[in-house]
Amino acid sequence: MIRVADGQGDKNGVASAAEASASKSPASLRVRVLRQDAPGRESYWECHVIPYEANMNVISILQRIAARTTTEDGRKVAPVAWDCNCLEEVCGSCTMLVNGRTRMACTALVDRLLEEQPEEIVLEPMSKFPVVRDLMVDRRRVFRSLERVKAWVPIDGSYDQGPGPRISPEDQEDAYPLATCISCGCCMEACPQFTKVEVSRLAGESQEAFEARRKEAFDKNFLGAHAISQAMLFNSHPTGKMIADERMEALTDRGGIQMCGNAQNCVAVCPKSIPLTRSIARAGRAATLWAIRRFFDR
Ligand code: SF4
Ligand code: SF4
Ligand code: FES
Repeated sequence: MIRVADGQGDKNGVASAAEASASKSPASLRVRVLRQDAPGRESYWECHVIPYEANMNVISILQRIAARTTTEDGRKVAPVAWDCNCLEEVCGSCTMLVNGRTRMACTALVDRLLEEQPEEIVLEPMSKFPVVRDLMVDRRRVFRSLERVKAWVPIDGSYDQGPGPRISPEDQEDAYPLATCISCGCCMEACPQFTKVEVSRLAGESQEAFEARRKEAFDKNFLGAHAISQAMLFNSHPTGKMIADERMEALTDRGGIQMCGNAQNCVAVCPKSIPLTRSIARAGRAATLWAIRRFFDR
């Protein structure tokens, strides 16, 4: 509790925490944004000052900046572009670097950020994905990795096949955290083994040829912790395990589990606290058994 000198607050002269923090709040806040006008263009810093309001998140800041479209030094500029959708850490689209740390903008609370770094809030796009514009990045590779490991339960028709196999509560509890992945890209951004792959369309190249070339480039590189974890999730599912061998094939192919250096940055930044290192350890063991089995099957 905080005592106030002017007699504000309750009759004992004690102010609520909210009143105290409001009295300490700045009138405005400075936001530094790393902008880029189009893919492949030079990036540049731009500063904005917006009035402080309590309980904002980083998306609220970006909305205020978009409404003002005026920089700190009074220049009129195009609104900053960013991605978001659900605003509750479910869709995974708003990932960016906030004060240098990869996280979801919708759950990055301004009051907390100002406590850590009162001078300014710094926003940058993720560095491991090609920038589309400003804070928007092309996250296609996140989804390509999921395709590579066939992160789904295959079905051979949508007709009624009756109830599926039963899953024990223990197995459900084990699998559920992995199922909360929102494909946000944070684990890839923080991973030293996951490096940026940016492929540009060549003059005269058809869309199909360009997409095939981009896929090939993605497939030579590391899958990322999310895909390893999803492969383990679906390989443990009673129906999903029907194609477990195909997933193991992908996991042990180029850019697979062998590239993981076990730095564990991924697990530290996952907004859903998914036990990624447990999945990686499981995948490592499964890959060893898979390799032995293949050796004897030859
Ligand atoms: S444990 Fe593997 S996937 Fe996770 S950050 Fe380290 S190298 Fe990347
Ligand atoms: S594993 Fe975590 S950090 Fe990685 S994509 Fe899924 S939710 Fe995001
Ligand atoms: S807007 Fe959906 S996760 Fe942030």
